[in-house]
Amino acid sequence: MDELRAAVTPIGYYFGRATPNEDQFERLARVLPMERVHAAWDGSRAVGGAGAFPFTLTVPGGRVRAAGVTVVAVLPSHRRRGVLRSMMRAQLDACRENGESVAYLWATEDTIYGRFGYGLASLTIEIDLARDRSAYYAPAEPFGQTRLVPLAEAESLVAPVWERVAAVTPGMFARTSTWWQARALADPDWRRRGGGELQCAVLEAGGRPTAYALYRLNLAFDRGMQTGSLDVVEAMGDSPEATRAIWRFLLDVDWIAHIKAWLLPVDHPLLLLVAEPRRLRANVRDGLWVRLVDVGAALAARSYATPGSVVIEVADEFCPWNQGRWRVGPDGVERTNHPADLSCDVTALGCAYLGGLTWAQLGRSLRVAEFRPGALSRADALFRVDTAPWCPEIF
Ligand SMILES: CC(C)(COP(=O)(O)OP(=O)(O)OC[C@H]1O[C@@H](n2cnc3c(N)ncnc32)[C@H](O)[C@@H]1OP(=O)(O)O)[C@@H](O)C(=O)NCCC(=O)NCCS
Repeated sequence: MDELRAAVTPIGYYFGRATPNEDQFERLARVLPMERVHAAWDGSRAVGGAGAFPFTLTVPGGRVRAAGVTVVAVLPSHRRRGVLRSMMRAQLDACRENGESVAYLWATEDTIYGRFGYGLASLTIEIDLARDRSAYYAPAEPFGQTRLVPLAEAESLVAPVWERVAAVTPGMFARTSTWWQARALADPDWRRRGGGELQCAVLEAGGRPTAYALYRLNLAFDRGMQTGSLDVVEAMGDSPEATRAIWRFLLDVDWIAHIKAWLLPVDHPLLLLVAEPRRLRANVRDGLWVRLVDVGAALAARSYATPGSVVIEVADEFCPWNQGRWRVGPDGVERTNHPADLSCDVTALGCAYLGGLTWAQLGRSLRVAEFRPGALSRADALFRVDTAPWCPEIF
């Protein structure tokens, strides 16, 4: 426990703390196995740390064991000496030994992880919608019944909804009960950042929960007029009707001027539900970064949308075991000596893996070389997904 505490001190430093907040540390220790944490030591002091949550990640058409990389930091007194590089080495080697074919993360800076083989794999949008401009394009039929639920009673209602959505949404991970209690449904003071308490609304239809929302009210008034916001922490439904209804609930809470949400997928239904999409003031930024630790196993774990195959020549300096030519398609993924259709760095595979970025995009950005005309289109037909990757939570 002392070593774990030391290993997370560097990330705590960047949040402005010399020693970890005890409550924060205790919650982290419940979900982050000690053996999945690396630290870099200078004498008895940990000057760098990096952890990996043992996740089950949804990929197109399946699920895969994946490392959710977290709490990465190196103290400013020891930066730019290769400490991060050595921790990334140890971490990816450990993932490979553990049989985790994918590692993925949220990056605080875009420049950090590309050199270790991570590619930008999803985009995410943030919205700030004025409540008085939040009408839907067409009035919605009432659907289900929404009730406010105390956090202590929420898990059994919201976890099945998350699980149904997570099972079919690339980028989402399976949450354990410990995760719900230690993180998603926890509302310690330090997480409020001056905002209101964490609230939970559950929508029931057909005798079962079908949608939920976790959110905070941040009240403010200017000369008697409301200026505050409702900040959506997480909201989802297991059907289009349920999603539409839970968002209508959020958009209609009184005393609120703005509804704010972030980490939404780029294909979120709200874009087409509201009458004035421009009023969402949607802002796009990078989402997940994905690293294929074991290219063969990772590519074999997802499904492909058409018959046929494509041969991809992969370069991977940091994990050279992945280098070479791979035939990829629904009949299997295997090493091959056949001439390559495409060639790219492993980062490009990370971009395309969850279906968040297309091969055509990669081609236009010169991140992949096409050796046969039509190979990029063929790869896009294979890798095509119906749902943009989405991870509703920064870990
Ligand atoms: C980002 C951070 C972990 C880098 O640690 P570090 O020990 O200085 O990194 P290294 O010395 O191993 O650097 C490895 C390489 O990455 C480069 N690099 C590292 N961080 C970089 C950054 N933020 N921007 C650009 N390049 C960076 C280094 O120049 C070096 O390049 P090279 O391989 O060409 O020599 C550290 O600066 C840090 O803790 N930052 C604040 C916390 C943070 O952002 N954590 C990440 C959370 S997702």
